[in-house]
Amino acid sequence: MSKDIKRVAVFTSGGDAPGMNAALRSVVRSGGFYDLHVYGIKRGYEGMIEGELTRLERSDVSNIIHRGGTFLKTARSERFRTPEGRKLAYETLLANDIDACIAIGGNGTFTGAHIFFQEFGVPIIGIPGTIDNDLYGTDYTIGFDTAVNTAIEAVDKIRDTADSHNRVFFIEVMGRHAGFIALNTGIGSGAAYVIIPESERSLDDLVEELQRSVKRKKLFSLVIVAEGSKLGGAAQIAQQVQERIPSYDIKVTIIGHLQRGGSPTGQDRVLASRLGHAAVVGLLEGRHDVMVGIVNDQITYTPFEQAIHQTKVPNADLQRLAEVLAT
Ligand code: F6P
Repeated sequence: MSKDIKRVAVFTSGGDAPGMNAALRSVVRSGGFYDLHVYGIKRGYEGMIEGELTRLERSDVSNIIHRGGTFLKTARSERFRTPEGRKLAYETLLANDIDACIAIGGNGTFTGAHIFFQEFGVPIIGIPGTIDNDLYGTDYTIGFDTAVNTAIEAVDKIRDTADSHNRVFFIEVMGRHAGFIALNTGIGSGAAYVIIPESERSLDDLVEELQRSVKRKKLFSLVIVAEGSKLGGAAQIAQQVQERIPSYDIKVTIIGHLQRGGSPTGQDRVLASRLGHAAVVGLLEGRHDVMVGIVNDQITYTPFEQAIHQTKVPNADLQRLAEVLAT
């Protein structure tokens, strides 16, 4: 193990995700276990620029494993995108004798971390925390499972009213450019159709499928739309379907930021705890400029370069399954 790293700073950045607190707890407690001094930076890279840094003891992370959000708060920093902003951030780390950082976030966070490492050589390990599950190098990201469960719970409720009124609902879920949340929500909620950015299914396919289900005497339907769909958002698609089938009673629901909050599921808490520990161990083993992940239940370290630029696509079997089960 490396003897050089003694003081580690941890921060959350980008969109929050349920389980980030559990990851922070794991970093602080694991750091303490291996005799590191752990510091928390508020509001991600913004706080690093502003010098908002405090020592975190094990008691500071008591009673947070079950809480959504991030107690360190988060931000999408415009200033960190500039060389001047990054220089100020580096000066904060220098002034506080920080030897290494752990960044909890998504693609944007790791893009910043990678540039920062190239410019200043600060060892950084990333922990994937985003509801979108869109990072290459890990089977799951922290927050994804909770977001899917939240979306399924919402769709279950919509199902009741859709059934009562014989309506077709278009339900939009988050995911930015990826369809993981939509696909898992669709399968988990028994949706009639799932529209994701990674699929080539067209509006004609959707209309045909809806008409087929009417022939099967199915009087209501639930269509899950990923916000990044190539066919447009739920409202846009609903409008086009309404034009093609005027007899349908169509409604649109956008679940939105509900998916970002709430108590993390057991799966997210365990994932966050494992990744937090593995990030600390990775730093002590001399790893940096990498994202820690779990692939096939094994801890892995993927270079930021790959995690950022390689695309993870939803499992083709799952896409097929969603189609088969809807018939
Ligand atoms: O990356 C997480 C995410 O919730 C995406 O699914 C969504 O597109 C985006 O963040 C929304 O960002 P904001 O909360 O800044 O509007």
